Amino acid sequence: MNKFSTECFKTSILGEPVAVMCRAAGNKFLFSNEDKLVTGWWPDSVKKIFPARSDQKEETKRLRRLLPQFLKPEALKSYIGTMDIVARSHFASAWENKEEVVVFPLAKRYTFLLACRLFMSLEDSNCIARFDHSFQLLVPGIFSIPIDLPGMPFNRAIKASNIIRKQLMKIIKQRKIDLAEKVTTQTQDILSHMLTVTDDQGYHMDDLDIADKILGLLIGGHDTTSIAITFVVFYLAELPHIYNMVYEEQMEIVRSKASGELLNWDDIQKMKYSWNVACEAMRLMPPLQGGFREAIQNFTYAGFFVPKGWKLYWNAYSTHTDCEYFPEPEKFDPTRFEGNGPAPYTYVPFGGGPKMCPGKEYARLEILVFIYNLVKRFKWEKCSFEETKDEIPQGKKSPRGAVSSEVVVKFSSALGGLPPISGLSVLWSGLNWAVLMDIEQILMGPAD
Ligand code: HEM
Repeated sequence: MNKFSTECFKTSILGEPVAVMCRAAGNKFLFSNEDKLVTGWWPDSVKKIFPARSDQKEETKRLRRLLPQFLKPEALKSYIGTMDIVARSHFASAWENKEEVVVFPLAKRYTFLLACRLFMSLEDSNCIARFDHSFQLLVPGIFSIPIDLPGMPFNRAIKASNIIRKQLMKIIKQRKIDLAEKVTTQTQDILSHMLTVTDDQGYHMDDLDIADKILGLLIGGHDTTSIAITFVVFYLAELPHIYNMVYEEQMEIVRSKASGELLNWDDIQKMKYSWNVACEAMRLMPPLQGGFREAIQNFTYAGFFVPKGWKLYWNAYSTHTDCEYFPEPEKFDPTRFEGNGPAPYTYVPFGGGPKMCPGKEYARLEILVFIYNLVKRFKWEKCSFEETKDEIPQGKKSPRGAVSSEVVVKFSSALGGLPPISGLSVLWSGLNWAVLMDIEQILMGPAD
């Protein structure tokens, strides 16, 4: 195989030969050949943090069969009210009356609270805090150098993963009792469903398998959505004309609602421009850079021979910034998503094919509910810029090329009768913004 080409190139990751696919045709090739020429693959380091106890491929397929019931649009409709309640209380407790806030950790807290509530009906703040602490140690270790020595991030991640599993096992045990005593129903949440569902032979899922699957969902839905949210906040602060359009769209919904009325499915459908903004943020800053596959037989792609056993990597950023598909690729332009939107296989923040993210719709809802609650409460500006290497979501670069992990923003005012905020600032990593904005009180219907 050649070393370089615009279609794909060869490299090595942790000693493994890897063919990196660069263009839409490469995405299409990988996404359409799942389980024919390629299959999902993770580096050994990841397998060490999430040790498989049974046939991992079968388990993944099983999870995919289970999820639609909870993550398809119809099922998600019933989550919107809860998402709104969680968002309201999250903003009230973590954002309001603050001088400055760091966006990424708070966005993570919001998505984590939601996942705990919607996947496991977990509301006990102490229990969630214990989980959260372990996740803070787990996630950075997944992308760290795999040195399993005390004190190293990788070692901490292995330990955290074991602690989380133990905590999940306790929750599962209690839930089994609740189900037996009919304190809860089998349709209450994903956990109850997993505990009651049987396979073709009538066997229930093993408790440890369930713990692993819930862990997988918490991981899958945790950092990704919070990165997307963080960059939405960032771009809205950077681009006032985009902010104004989002603001108008959201305020129309605010005005249409009675005091305290929760968001519903129809409201979400009206948030088209806001979703295009989120899509554009994910185009420029894909929360997941891409995914690995393994060749399960020899094949030739674009004239290159790929031997069985080689690893392959598709990545979102290369097509997202290709000027053939996205003119002026560096420009933030949500209108790209109007009409038919980007050409197939060019815009892939959620992947594609059989392994496409099953949490896409769920993520859309939690991002939009977040934007609604943010925009109706605050106006904010960049307040400072500081390069920091800590808390970097997967080593991302800020749009200005600086290492970016914390977005700090300052809010200057509350809207619509909410208690005024004295200079709340939101810190995104790598971007320092000054909070100078004095916005007028805007009448927009009763505050919640
Ligand atoms: C903005 C938010 C999100 C982004 C950008 C995202 C992105 C992705 C991508 C690119 C993949 C495919 C990886 C591959 O092809 O190898 C994936 C898989 C997955 N995602 Fe998401 N995701 C998001 C949110 C979520 C949420 C909220 C959940 C859970 C509710 C979730 C659960 C999963 C799971 C379980 C998989 C593995 C699917 C499989 O292997 O078959 N994701 N995600």
